[in-house]
Amino acid sequence: MRSRAAILHDVGGPWSVEEFELDPPRAGEVLVEMAAAGLCHSDDHILKGDMSAPNEVLRSLGLPTMFPTIGGHEGSGIVREVGDGVTEFAPGDHVVTSFVAVCGQCRWCATGMEYLCDAGIGTLTPGMPTDGTFRHHTSEGKSLGHISKIGAFAEHTVVAADSLVKIEPELSLVPAALLACAIPTGYGSAVNRGGVRGGDTVVVIGAGGIGTGAIQGARINGAAQIVAVDPVEFKQKSALRFGATHSAANAAEALDLVRDLTYGVMADAVVVSPSLITPDDVRDALKLTRKGGTCVLTGMTSQLTHSVKLNLQDFILMNKTLAGTVFGSCNPRADVVRLARLYQTSQLMLDEMITRRYRLDDVNDAYADLLNGEIIRGVIDFGIS
Ligand SMILES: NC(=O)c1ccc[n+]([C@@H]2O[C@H](COP(=O)([O-])OP(=O)(O)OC[C@H]3O[C@@H](n4cnc5c(N)ncnc54)[C@H](O)[C@@H]3O)[C@@H](O)[C@H]2O)c1
Ligand SMILES: [Zn+2]
Ligand SMILES: [Zn+2]
Repeated sequence: MRSRAAILHDVGGPWSVEEFELDPPRAGEVLVEMAAAGLCHSDDHILKGDMSAPNEVLRSLGLPTMFPTIGGHEGSGIVREVGDGVTEFAPGDHVVTSFVAVCGQCRWCATGMEYLCDAGIGTLTPGMPTDGTFRHHTSEGKSLGHISKIGAFAEHTVVAADSLVKIEPELSLVPAALLACAIPTGYGSAVNRGGVRGGDTVVVIGAGGIGTGAIQGARINGAAQIVAVDPVEFKQKSALRFGATHSAANAAEALDLVRDLTYGVMADAVVVSPSLITPDDVRDALKLTRKGGTCVLTGMTSQLTHSVKLNLQDFILMNKTLAGTVFGSCNPRADVVRLARLYQTSQLMLDEMITRRYRLDDVNDAYADLLNGEIIRGVIDFGIS
């Protein structure tokens, strides 16, 4: 069938909205009509070349680069067709995407670490996770990748059943898209990786989509003081709406503030989720972390960042933890449903995070708005729900 998508032809972009050819789903695969796609900063990192698939993997597949590729990994939609052997989904089911494909069989899935699933690890390598071949093709017949094996910036996409999580049909599909990345990544960064508990002091550096998920995770789990750090005034103000108790424009301001708030103890957990993490951000975040506390690196860094400098003796003797996280260390099949329930019981604010809705054709304007600091989360609304 023919469909339309926002495609990157090379590093630097822009997103090109055009028609493409989509094959029917094969064994283990599902055709999804997208309802909504969130504008996560990670897709912009792929456009900018901050992040890409490892070249040696691509060469072994005979592919020069990961381009052309359809963008988008944070999506919701409706199942339209299932391939052979797919028993867990049927046409009409409502789903959100999981940017980590989850096989349910590997060592990591079997031990409650679906976010590390062996099937999900090649998320930037083009081709289907089922058999490595392509269902998406440009109108000239060229193989077309789909970011994170999802391709949410498309009216229709074919994904592995392992890349989907079923949700209740009553759940509104547009806010549900945020359950595919921003919310689990942010919420889980604070709760699963940062271990936030009642009464804690938490700092969230970067109050965009992911940071707002982290702020909400901290609030819902009882943090007493939540400091949002963001250079953009609008983000500082909005953070207060989602549960931050204080805000600061930069790490230096936050250091003074957190020192005062904690009588010098500093924060129990720090979530670092700015647009792009620099080595200085890591050093600053560790200064904000108390002895025995945890500093969680959630934001992406450039693939050219190979080292960070930190006060190593302080780090060792103050018994600090520096943790990375993918997908907020969430298990998509268990956690997306739990987070949906928090939304349905009015604890998790999703609608309020969607500052603007866009049409697929406006994807470049939408990313310009994100980079100008104008939106918490922008969402492409495909208008089917
Ligand atoms: N680890 C994962 O699994 C995962 C998943 C999704 C996204 N990410 C990454 O998380 C990061 C945030 O994504 P997002 O979609 O929330 O982006 P976003 O653009 O919505 O938010 C980033 C925020 O950081 C702020 N900011 C920029 N520089 C800052 C600085 N020096 N200090 C404090 N704040 C600063 C911006 O004003 C913005 O509000 C990106 O790097 C993205 O790639 C990681
Ligand atoms: Zn994302
Ligand atoms: Zn697995």
